Amino acid sequence: MTTALITGSTAGLGAAFARRLAASGHDLVLVARTAERLHEQAAELHERHGVEAAALPADLATEEGIAAVEARLGEAGRPVDLLVNNAGFGLKGRFLQVALADELTMLKVHCEAVLRLTTAAAAAMQERSRGAVVNVASVAAFVPRGTYGASKAWVVQFTQGVARDLAGSGVRLMALCPGFVRTEFHERAGMGTDRIPGWMWLDADRVVAEALRDLGRGRTVSIPDPRYKALMGAAKLVPRGLLGRVSSGAGSKYGPR
Ligand SMILES: NC(=O)c1ccc[n+]([C@@H]2O[C@H](COP(=O)([O-])OP(=O)(O)OC[C@H]3O[C@@H](n4cnc5c(N)ncnc54)[C@H](OP(=O)(O)O)[C@@H]3O)[C@@H](O)[C@H]2O)c1
Repeated sequence: MTTALITGSTAGLGAAFARRLAASGHDLVLVARTAERLHEQAAELHERHGVEAAALPADLATEEGIAAVEARLGEAGRPVDLLVNNAGFGLKGRFLQVALADELTMLKVHCEAVLRLTTAAAAAMQERSRGAVVNVASVAAFVPRGTYGASKAWVVQFTQGVARDLAGSGVRLMALCPGFVRTEFHERAGMGTDRIPGWMWLDADRVVAEALRDLGRGRTVSIPDPRYKALMGAAKLVPRGLLGRVSSGAGSKYGPR
């Protein structure tokens, strides 16, 4: 029996990871801020799939929250075989419309927490010569797009670099880069989604299924869905300046109404 720890497990992509991994027999450690929702999720997954599911309430924007999850990942007697660093959020608005404090919180959750949890997990996994880390980034990593895109670009670069450094150790890492996924993400950020065309939306369960297939194949970056693979391939051919203008124009649609 293996154990997976998922951050941001109660909604969207994290909940899809939890469902999928529980269905394939993994015990789970579920992390998010809202304790009641976590306990309900743990009880439901245990009942439905017979796996052990533990709730670990933690706010990854805080020192105590990150330290609590680091401590769990470092417990030698209860090894975590798969870490999914998924917790994250969006901010509505362009630069200078968003409070600096919110941008710093984003860096804490998207970068510092990912760095520290990956470090704690990978150190323990290296000792056992096995384990995997999935860091949830975004296709926003590949276009010039404010703090959100920059933080996700960091996640991709960091993950690829660590994957290389740990090659041959038995510890695998993969950055997951989805496009638009139907979750609570946009509503939580107060972003309008009316102008995002229907064909651009992905289903969280399908994204997770493809991500886990890519992890099994040894990929270090996964872009689920052929439409987004093609879009990101084309984006590489577009000059950065033009890409920035298109991205900024598209981004303004999800800004303050
Ligand atoms: N949806 C998309 O279109 C999309 C596209 C590309 C990438 N992504 C990325 O996918 C990841 C998951 O997003 P999602 O769309 O599934 O979002 P979501 O539906 O809003 O779910 C976010 C989850 O993260 C938890 N969370 C938020 N802030 C947290 C914090 N400070 N500490 C601990 N847990 C926290 C939430 O629970 P609590 O509120 O209870 O803490 C919830 O479980 C994010 O990293 C996001 O950037 C999303």
